[in-house]
Amino acid sequence: MELLSLWLSLSFIVLVVELQNRTRMAAAEYQGVCKMVGRIAYCQRRHLVSVPSDLPSHSVELVLDANSIKTLGYHSLHHYSHLRKLSLRNCKLECIDQNTFQGSSYIHSLALSNNFLSVNYTESGAALRSLLGLRELDLSGNSLTEDMVAEMLLNLSSLESLSLAKNVIMRLDDAVFQSLGRLQELDLQRNYIFEIESGAFDGLKWLRRLNLAFNHLPCIVNFGLTQLQVLNISYNILEWFIADSGDAAFALETLDLSHNRLLFFPFLPQQNRLHTLLLMDNEMGFYKDLYNVSSPKDMVVQFLLVSGNVTNVTTVNLWEEFALSDLSALHFLDLSQNQLRYLPDGFLRNMTSLTHLNLNQNCLQTLHIQEDDLPHSLSDLNLSQNRLSELRLAPRLPGSLSSLRHVNLSYNQLQGLPPGLFYSTSNITTIDLSHNQITLCSPSEKVSQPACVDFRNITSLRSLFLENCGLPSLEGRAFRGTPLTHLDLSGNRGVLPKDITPLRDVAPTLQVLSLRDIGLPSNGTELDFSGFGSLRYLDMSTNSLTSFPRFWGGLELHTLDLRRNQLTALPQWACSGQLKKSLRILYLSQNPYDCCWLEGWGPLHSLKTLYIVDWGAVTCNFSSNMVRVVELSEDIAQDCKWGRVNLGLLYLVLILPTCLTFLVACVVIFLAFKKPLLQVVKSRCHWSSIY
Ligand SMILES: *[C@@H]1O[C@H](CO)[C@@H](O)[C@H](O)[C@H]1NC(C)=O
Ligand SMILES: *[C@@H]1O[C@H](CO)[C@@H](O)[C@H](O)[C@H]1NC(C)=O
Ligand SMILES: *[C@@H]1O[C@H](CO)[C@@H](O)[C@H](O)[C@H]1NC(C)=O
Ligand SMILES: *[C@@H]1O[C@H](CO)[C@@H](O)[C@H](O)[C@H]1NC(C)=O
Ligand SMILES: *[C@@H]1O[C@H](CO)[C@@H](O)[C@H](O)[C@H]1NC(C)=O
Ligand SMILES: *[C@@H]1O[C@H](CO)[C@@H](O)[C@H](O)[C@H]1NC(C)=O
Ligand SMILES: *[C@@H]1O[C@H](CO)[C@@H](O)[C@H](O)[C@H]1NC(C)=O
Ligand SMILES: *[C@@H]1O[C@H](CO)[C@@H](O)[C@H](O)[C@H]1NC(C)=O
Ligand SMILES: *[C@@H]1O[C@H](CO)[C@@H](O)[C@H](O)[C@H]1NC(C)=O
Repeated sequence: MELLSLWLSLSFIVLVVELQNRTRMAAAEYQGVCKMVGRIAYCQRRHLVSVPSDLPSHSVELVLDANSIKTLGYHSLHHYSHLRKLSLRNCKLECIDQNTFQGSSYIHSLALSNNFLSVNYTESGAALRSLLGLRELDLSGNSLTEDMVAEMLLNLSSLESLSLAKNVIMRLDDAVFQSLGRLQELDLQRNYIFEIESGAFDGLKWLRRLNLAFNHLPCIVNFGLTQLQVLNISYNILEWFIADSGDAAFALETLDLSHNRLLFFPFLPQQNRLHTLLLMDNEMGFYKDLYNVSSPKDMVVQFLLVSGNVTNVTTVNLWEEFALSDLSALHFLDLSQNQLRYLPDGFLRNMTSLTHLNLNQNCLQTLHIQEDDLPHSLSDLNLSQNRLSELRLAPRLPGSLSSLRHVNLSYNQLQGLPPGLFYSTSNITTIDLSHNQITLCSPSEKVSQPACVDFRNITSLRSLFLENCGLPSLEGRAFRGTPLTHLDLSGNRGVLPKDITPLRDVAPTLQVLSLRDIGLPSNGTELDFSGFGSLRYLDMSTNSLTSFPRFWGGLELHTLDLRRNQLTALPQWACSGQLKKSLRILYLSQNPYDCCWLEGWGPLHSLKTLYIVDWGAVTCNFSSNMVRVVELSEDIAQDCKWGRVNLGLLYLVLILPTCLTFLVACVVIFLAFKKPLLQVVKSRCHWSSIY
């Protein structure tokens, strides 16, 4: 038995090899304009005006994109009866002869996007009808109107995927897709659709994905496509989205209503499987607090649906409709860029699977999180760019935030955080509190003062963003017990007034450190980075460094930003061979370098491993003129040399005459006084001389 199966598989392998060999042979034999890969002919951009007739006849796929094939004539595909896929994108195609596909009954995928099929849509439509096995059809970008589409799609009952994107369809009536009983995916994006007649999609029992993005739909009322899984109506002008209020079970999993003009939270199907709900960039709010009503039941909206001479009134209760829909499967909710001023009580309570909640760019002012309000599953919470001045937690909350990993509270007006917030969030890795005026709790005080934030001993925390928080000078051990890898302290002027020793607790773990615009002491030599063994990215831009920091030891920086400082000379690389080895990316511009002290530039620039990102913008100062270093001419270099040599010469020229004069004077004096002097000496000494 085993032998048999071995034999079988062996013969199978031989068969495969044989087949491959034959294909390769055929491909090798073919010597035309196209490129054969296996049984696929690639003929893009070959200036063809018709389908080449010399391709191997067993080709299964022809890619003819970006040629100039205006018509697909009767005999075009005569030789290729095995064809399964045909692609004629961007071919200026105007007409397909109705008999073209008669010998190509295997074609299941046809890409005809960006052509001019509207010119002769009747004939081309008839051609499509002869493809009984066609499953995929792309007619996007053909200037087709709804009437043309209706005619071209007649009887294409085998289609499973259809793209009509980028055409000029304005209305969809109930007949246009009537015959597409097997359609699963329909792309109608980038048309001018402003009206969809009820029943337009009724025949599409298997439709799973519908894309209506970039159209002009003003509202969706009585949405009843229970079979849909993905619905995309982003970039329209929707003010309302109202699903059928019945009990029907919807298969809807992803709903994209972003970039519309929704005023209210959409009225979702009561029974759905919504997993992703995208409502970004609308005008949504909750309005309960605007009305002084005893019960939210009074908040109703009535819709008049006029159809012919029949007028239907639909009454929608703004609060209950929302409350009724089951959102227990929802994972991802994006409510960013809306007008939310508050979240109604219990808004999130039923979203028991929610992991991502984005409330970025709303108008939230206070957030009182009650017990069990936040789903236990929540891992990613973005509350940035609101007007939050207060964040309050119900006392028994701790524990319920155990899944929380990323919290973004940047650009708010917070002054503190609820004490102990981060002790219960045992999995938190990222906190962004940038652009809030906070203070860090003083290590000396045992009980933390209410308006301070304590980042000590949060063992899971890795990334902390505290840009522009108005932080005062950092005290000794603000991050003790918190193994940060990313720390951003930018914009807190004076946070490290003397040196960087307050960071010593996190020095061994830090990989990314941003110290932009914090008023670092100007003598960079005093900044000692020797303990920062893991540091790879360091931003020290916008300080007043006049000298380069000490980068010796095991520092293996990868990226260094020194822009906007007061450096006059290039970094002294000699002091750190390690840095020279590890550094890959360097920013140096906007420093007042002295053109005459740029000796380091050549070697720096010739380092193969180093990329100076802004090297074209590095300027230096030459006799009060700013010169771009890349354009530094020989003349200036010469001038600099002369400047230095001249100085020596000048001294020489100044000193030489003085010395000469002095020497001459000495000689003259000596000569003039020689005789008397000798006499004086003689008289003093009373030597008996030989003269
Ligand atoms: C493929 O065909 C060539 C030419 O007929 C032949 O020489 C070669 O042995 C074949 N290779 C295999 C793997 O069959
Ligand atoms: C579509 O199919 C129906 C039924 O098979 C047939 O009667 C009709 O003529 C076809 N329409 C076209 C335009 O081929
Ligand atoms: C909806 O369509 C737009 C436009 O094509 C696209 O950018 C967006 O990603 C789509 N949404 C989803 C959920 O796929
Ligand atoms: C709103 O209702 C409260 C009590 O229900 C009442 O005290 C207050 O005067 C009302 N305000 C307005 C503007 O009607
Ligand atoms: C509505 O119009 C139809 C025909 O257009 C007519 O038969 C019917 O009586 C009308 N109904 C009303 C309520 O006017
Ligand atoms: C109006 O309501 C009736 C009964 O609920 C319903 O059968 C009919 O389809 C509705 N008409 C429109 C235009 O919604
Ligand atoms: C937090 O949100 C702000 C504004 O939306 C954004 O710029 C920042 O990158 C976010 N922070 C993190 C850590 O993703
Ligand atoms: C900078 O600091 C170092 C070490 O403290 C010192 O040796 C050096 O003289 C200082 N340089 C200037 C310009 O103050
Ligand atoms: C350029 O150098 C001169 C002296 O050489 C100095 O007065 C001037 O301030 C410098 N300019 C800049 C922008 O640093």
